[in-house]
Amino acid sequence: MSFRPHIVSQSALSPAARERFAKIVGEKYALTGEAMQPFLREPRDLYEGRAALVLKPGTTAEVSQILRLAQETKTPVVPQGGNTGLVGGQISFDGSAVVVSLVRMNKIREVSAEGNYMVCEAGVVLQNAQEEALRHDRLFPLSLGAEGTCTIGGNLGSNAGGTGALAYGVARDLVLGLEVVLADGRIWHGLRKLKKDNTGYDLRHIFIGSEGTLGVITAAVLKLFPAPRAVEAAFVGLKSPKDALSLLNLLQSRAGSALTSFELIARMAMEFNFLHLPGARDPLGAPHRWYALVELTSPVESGLRETLESALEEAAEKNMVEDAALAANEAQRAAFWKLRTGITETQRPEGGSIKHDVSVPVASVPAFLEEADAAVIKLIPGARPVPFGHMGDGNIHYNVSQPAGADRAAFLARWDEVNALVHGIVAKFGGSISAEHGIGVMKRDLLPEVKDPVELDMMRALKRTFDPNNILNPGKVL
Ligand code: FAD
Ligand code: MLT
Ligand code: ZN
Repeated sequence: MSFRPHIVSQSALSPAARERFAKIVGEKYALTGEAMQPFLREPRDLYEGRAALVLKPGTTAEVSQILRLAQETKTPVVPQGGNTGLVGGQISFDGSAVVVSLVRMNKIREVSAEGNYMVCEAGVVLQNAQEEALRHDRLFPLSLGAEGTCTIGGNLGSNAGGTGALAYGVARDLVLGLEVVLADGRIWHGLRKLKKDNTGYDLRHIFIGSEGTLGVITAAVLKLFPAPRAVEAAFVGLKSPKDALSLLNLLQSRAGSALTSFELIARMAMEFNFLHLPGARDPLGAPHRWYALVELTSPVESGLRETLESALEEAAEKNMVEDAALAANEAQRAAFWKLRTGITETQRPEGGSIKHDVSVPVASVPAFLEEADAAVIKLIPGARPVPFGHMGDGNIHYNVSQPAGADRAAFLARWDEVNALVHGIVAKFGGSISAEHGIGVMKRDLLPEVKDPVELDMMRALKRTFDPNNILNPGKVL
């Protein structure tokens, strides 16, 4: 993959500035040298970063002071949460930059079961937010494979999607209010708890999904929902994505908003799981070309299993499904999900993997997959497409593993070529080259090819307004 890290400033951070930055958070929380390493690498090991300092502020006031000083000294600032982002947005590539890790800001300031909201600081780990909500008999429905590590700030910075978006929307749909530190250090106290507020432009949505380029989110008011009383999952074997689409529609018409997840998995991904995921077992008796992991969730205790069973029976009668296993208990449901979330890791031992995180209109998923598979295999005979993901949202992680036994480096050298091919097909269907992971640096240079020029102009104008000196995560997104 080719990308040019955008080096804003070649000059090193002066010892005096370094000392002033460190003083804001205290020496203990100002990291240099080896101690910075965990903050400079990311999950896919695609990028290796550089920075002058990693700062771990404990309060919004400290973040504000850091940005004031960064503005004065023209120091680039890279906001970072759990460092699980998959497009390099959280990685600093500038040896004079300061990484601001929000992980110490991990307080849940308030939970209101009555008001159906919680106020979390940016560094709260997603799973901790989910668990705290459940302790109050409420659900915070954002859910993704990295939930044990990723943070609310990173989820909002990247507008994460995940496996519950089908019913509850993506991260931006789950936010009532925000607290943000601007590039000049001023604090926007926008922690509103209002469902309705039409007092002008809705600035929340400028910052959500801006990948740390417009401001540093320090806290958020998150929406809560009734806690589930019943959850039913099924692992379904299918002939084709076309049948998956029919099943999705059938389930939506029979279960409505109770259908909370509909994940598609190609057989190749399951084979990788069986080889590399400890304890992985096939829930179904025989192999199938495609699988769907479907989940129904309800705040009402009774009737959900019957709904799922009868919908699957109807689907079988209509020849939409080849086989299905319903989770008999929590352990089985967890095992189904492990087969889905494990895919991210089990591609790794199979060698090079060229990634795509694309979306097309839901009804176009089958045609997209058919066309992409044919084109990729024609381009690289023996290449192994491993499509999986959030079919209910039209979002497919269209990853391509190298031919078995091929040279990893030679395969990965074709990253841009394969991207161009797949993204070209995505464009034909009116899709997006980044459904949920963001742009970061990975897709920055592709953006001008796919965005309306007027839209790009508006994005650049926003960047100039919010960050005129380009100190916030420079070289990311734009
Ligand atoms: P980071 O990686 O630290 O940062 C992500 C971006 O947000 C960066 O651009 C960073 O600069 C910015 N940022 C971080 N904190 C702030 C802040 N306080 N204010 C402003 N900007 C900030 N993503 C999905 O959308 N759906 C999935 O299903 C999904 N599954 C995943 C599964 C695995 C196993 C892994 C490793 C990743 C997955 N991801 C997924 C990607 C990633 O987990 C998400 O993007 C997540 O939201 C990032 O959170 P983080 O705290 O790790 O943020
Ligand atoms: C997922 O849905 O599992 C992710 O977004 C991570 C990935 O693409 O591997
Ligand atoms: Zn995903």
